[in-house]
Amino acid sequence: MSAESAEPESIESVDGIEPAEAAERAGSNEQAESSERVESAEHAESTESAEPVKRAESSEQAESSERIESVKRAEPTERAESAAPSKVVHGPRRPGTPALEARGLVKHFPLHSGIGRGQVVHAVEDISMVLPAGTVTAVVGESGSGKSTLARLLTGLIKPTAGQVLLDGEPVGTGARARRKYTSSVHLVLQDPFSSLNSVHTVRYHLERPLKLHTKLGRAERAERMRQLLERVSLTPAQDYLDKYPHELSGGQRQRVAIARGLAVGPRVLLADEPVSMLDVSIRLGVLNLLDDLRSGENLATMYVTHDIASARYLADCIVVMYAGQVVESGPATRITDEPAHPYTQLLLSAAPDPARAETPVLRGRGAPPSLVSPPAGCRFHPRCPFAMKVCAVRSPEPRTVGEDHVSACWLHVSELDDDQREPLSAAATGTATAIATAAATATATVQAAESVDGATDEN
Ligand SMILES: Nc1ncnc2c1ncn2[C@@H]1O[C@H](COP(=O)(O)OP(=O)(O)O)[C@@H](O)[C@H]1O
Ligand code: SF4
Ligand SMILES: [Mg+2]
Repeated sequence: MSAESAEPESIESVDGIEPAEAAERAGSNEQAESSERVESAEHAESTESAEPVKRAESSEQAESSERIESVKRAEPTERAESAAPSKVVHGPRRPGTPALEARGLVKHFPLHSGIGRGQVVHAVEDISMVLPAGTVTAVVGESGSGKSTLARLLTGLIKPTAGQVLLDGEPVGTGARARRKYTSSVHLVLQDPFSSLNSVHTVRYHLERPLKLHTKLGRAERAERMRQLLERVSLTPAQDYLDKYPHELSGGQRQRVAIARGLAVGPRVLLADEPVSMLDVSIRLGVLNLLDDLRSGENLATMYVTHDIASARYLADCIVVMYAGQVVESGPATRITDEPAHPYTQLLLSAAPDPARAETPVLRGRGAPPSLVSPPAGCRFHPRCPFAMKVCAVRSPEPRTVGEDHVSACWLHVSELDDDQREPLSAAATGTATAIATAAATATATVQAAESVDGATDEN
């Protein structure tokens, strides 16, 4: 199964629930009620039996919001083997408490049958990020990099193996009331609007249902609210859409209805998992513009999941790049796309369509993402990296500051390596030693420049 289809398949297989209904539950903020069932219906070969491992509230967790200053001074260590959560927090920096925060999120899916039985899929590894109100954070990566798993962890649809999620700075409670508050505050928009709308119900039904469930509005007030919601997503005049069925709408209109339904209960956080990837190219921009508009109009904290780094640049304040379950780079969107520091981000950008580019891009890397059952040791990208060195195959690089609010986890940014560690992994895999030396020198200079900027800032 392709990772792109993981989410719809997960939902389709929910025991005893129609796909559309299961998705509707997710989409209509009833995630709490359905999460256990969705959880139990994950991959056929996988069952989720373990309770989340509760991490002790350590001082390191409390310090996690201090971000990367301490990390850049730290000696590189074996992060993969370390039990302590990373101190690096990804996402846009804004004053105050973020609407949603993930601390040290880990998700390992146990495999109970087939090849790899008894092992786990390392889908998400130690990710800390913030989603402040009024911002868009894009999570970018190839299929299978763990983007949807991260989104589902943030919705509460699946339980983390470790780590925790905080809404407005408070850990999400487990009681029914707390779950209800959470699910009406955090809304998930799915990739396929057809699977998230029930084909036997009208737009009116989809919009009215959450209003009945989550508000005390009377019939006339609900009608007025439905009209406002449709106008908010530019489906006007609202009267023309209320009695339509999903199949009578275009893909873009269906996605707008799905978003309107999410807005019905006034969420604070919108998690949009590849919301435009199944839409015609001609209507993608309209939906992206709607998300952009909601950021400012509704002050939503938005996470935009995509494999398309070009659209991430268009929409997002901050880009978080994931590879094989880990964050390899994050920073302001323009910086990530104009000056990518990590070889994987460079690979993604070289593969992105660019009308200004005259020639077909030569990918700065090769091969496919690794198995997450037994991911490569050291840097998980090393089997594909044109710059891979000996150290990359054995030690996992820590994230380092490479610019303002910009971090990248790559040994090229570390100047203290000895000659043996810098040895190219193999001539075929790594390109020329000159290329490595140049890349390393550039990266080191960038880090030094960043450190001097930080130093100057600290003094002011
Ligand atoms: N319920 C599950 N059981 C086992 N493996 C899973 C499950 N859900 C996702 N995975 C695996 O986790 C990895 C990340 O998947 P996913 O988060 O869907 O990636 P993305 O959204 O980036 O394509 C993939 O290897 C996928 O096969
Ligand atoms: S240079 Fe090494 S650490 Fe950096 S991305 Fe390539 S393999 Fe990973
Ligand atoms: Mg996905």
